[in-house]
Amino acid sequence: MGFETIWVVDFGGQYNQLIARRVRELSVYSEVVSYRAAAAKIRKEGVPNGVILTGGGDSVYDKGAPKLPSDVLGAFVKAGVPVLGICYGMQVLAAALGGRVEPARVSEYGRTRLDGTWAAGWKPVLFSGVRLPDDCWMSHTDAVSRLPRGAVRTASTSACRNASFEIATKKIYAVQFHPEVHHTPFGQKLLGNFVYKICRCRPSWTMAGFIQAQVDEIRERVGSAKVLCALSGGVDSTVAAALVQKAVGDNLYCFFVDHGLLRQGEAEQVMDTYARKMKLNVTKVNASGRFLRRLKGVSDPERKRKIIGEEFIRVFEEQAARLNRKAGGIDYLLQGTIYPDVVESGAGGHSKNIKSHHNVGGLPKDMKVKLIEPLRLLFKDEVRKLGEELGLDRSLVWRQPFPGPGLAIRILGDVTREKLRIVRESDAILREEIDAYNERVFDEGGGFNPSRSVWQYFTVLPNIRSVGVMGDGRTYEYAVGVRAVHSVDGMTSDWARLPHELLETIASRIVNEVAGVNRVLYDLTSKPPGTIEWE
Ligand code: XMP
Repeated sequence: MGFETIWVVDFGGQYNQLIARRVRELSVYSEVVSYRAAAAKIRKEGVPNGVILTGGGDSVYDKGAPKLPSDVLGAFVKAGVPVLGICYGMQVLAAALGGRVEPARVSEYGRTRLDGTWAAGWKPVLFSGVRLPDDCWMSHTDAVSRLPRGAVRTASTSACRNASFEIATKKIYAVQFHPEVHHTPFGQKLLGNFVYKICRCRPSWTMAGFIQAQVDEIRERVGSAKVLCALSGGVDSTVAAALVQKAVGDNLYCFFVDHGLLRQGEAEQVMDTYARKMKLNVTKVNASGRFLRRLKGVSDPERKRKIIGEEFIRVFEEQAARLNRKAGGIDYLLQGTIYPDVVESGAGGHSKNIKSHHNVGGLPKDMKVKLIEPLRLLFKDEVRKLGEELGLDRSLVWRQPFPGPGLAIRILGDVTREKLRIVRESDAILREEIDAYNERVFDEGGGFNPSRSVWQYFTVLPNIRSVGVMGDGRTYEYAVGVRAVHSVDGMTSDWARLPHELLETIASRIVNEVAGVNRVLYDLTSKPPGTIEWE
């Protein structure tokens, strides 16, 4: 894309995406590249401005352990491209350059004291502005027992003599600890030294620059062809549409499917944003009748998901055919795929196959369209930044996640219009109260606070009824469950310790305002062992 680039060469460690994110936080573009793909990428694109070799779970001395091919390392050194090895990446470098790697006498895990070992009167550039001793984060069972020829040791811990080395003439740098994690307090400073001072990159990766580059690229690729997009109301598809609209205008044909399983007022609100605020060329498809008919009497969670996925594909095909007739030939399909999906699917770059939809299980396999995935290089937080840069509403950019199968997986048992009404009305009350609470936390703490701001919150209908008393009469009505969790990415979550007064307001409002409910439960389960949704 024309940005200065750091490659994060992936050896399978758990923090690899994090390294790329940290580099991007320095406003320098960074990509995760499999160690197997590095040689082909050099042939195709030339060398980058700098390379970081990641951690990994292997031992370099084992047969078949991942290594950097010698011609790849040679190409970097020959072209003067700086290389920084982290943890396993350090051991890969040491072994490749004639040093020795062995099982460490003492494995180090967690916070560890690091000392500088450089000679008086000299400071390695990598550690510039870093005061040692300080804590660093270690996680290793092997260590470099003998340095390669020409290497200078720059740091040690009590158990690990060679905690860092460099061969400045070859622009080779290596650290055994993990600078990318927050537990290494000077880690970001060190990565900044590598990226700015050693690789000489400038902080040029900005959302404004990204937008310009993408708009130019999409315009050139798509020309006057037509692009189809199924909008979900979520952040990714909306931001992707806003970006592509900038490039092709009304040749972007969007549709939004109301499957009848959305929250209260959601379809209207989302359509208002798309049509009136964003001025997208968008059609609303009201498909609630057919989804509800197919779901009638179905209580098995997986069956419900499958039915919704299949029905979505049918609606999609019909819409694609309709637009094809109306607009005359759709060539491209826009999808809101983001970088973690690309890295996790192992595509590592340029797969052009239609992959399964994030929301509702699979798009038609035989569709003859080319894909446009303008967010495939962005992390979630960058998608939000991009949305803000494109002028989208804060409420949309910071919208809480909502599953593709919608309220169907928040109603245990079969889905009926009556049960949908109860979940919708109780959910609307909950959202109103927690939105207000989140705003207060936001204002007090100066922004989103992962341990206090509630990340996702909704009500569920567990399909149980219980006896209660209201006025002078006995009631036998539904119980509603409240779920409110803290999370970063939905992979794990912790239940939110909401103030009792807030829970009290929520409970009494739901019982008083929602007909058919006489009891409210609060879900105290974290993930794991629970999941966030109930189905
Ligand atoms: P679970 O319930 O698995 O959910 O802990 C983790 C996060 O994913 C969302 N979720 C979905 N999102 N399609 C989606 O787009 C789905 O089928 C789906 N199921 C769960 C859930 O809301 C939570 O944020």
